[in-house]
Amino acid sequence: MYNERVMKEFQNPQNVGEMADANAVGTVGNASCGDIMKIYMKIENNIIEDVSFQTFGCAAAIATSSVATSLIKGKTVEEALKITNAQVVDELGGLPAQKLHCSVLAEEAIKAAVNDYLTRYVAENK
Ligand code: FES
Repeated sequence: MYNERVMKEFQNPQNVGEMADANAVGTVGNASCGDIMKIYMKIENNIIEDVSFQTFGCAAAIATSSVATSLIKGKTVEEALKITNAQVVDELGGLPAQKLHCSVLAEEAIKAAVNDYLTRYVAENK
């Protein structure tokens, strides 16, 4: 059902784990399957210096978390906001149609974490 790249990312995901010194955290869930994705970021001078994730979900959700976090590491906040689930799926070489919704979690989690950062930044600079 999954291609080799998806299986590789699922079995050996990059950027896994909680980040104690994160200054941005985004959590999203999929109501239909109950899976949850949490993305942590350490943002300095508008750059995502570090990023990690914790995903309680299917193989596709874990593979997309792995790829999405790798894609945004070292990028600016604005660049991260432009990442779409289609890009994540492309990077993985495709997902089965019934698993495409799993990649949406990654896009949403990135946006949620960046929004968390922007909210904190605005609050701190009032
Ligand atoms: Fe829930 Fe994949 S089935 S995220």
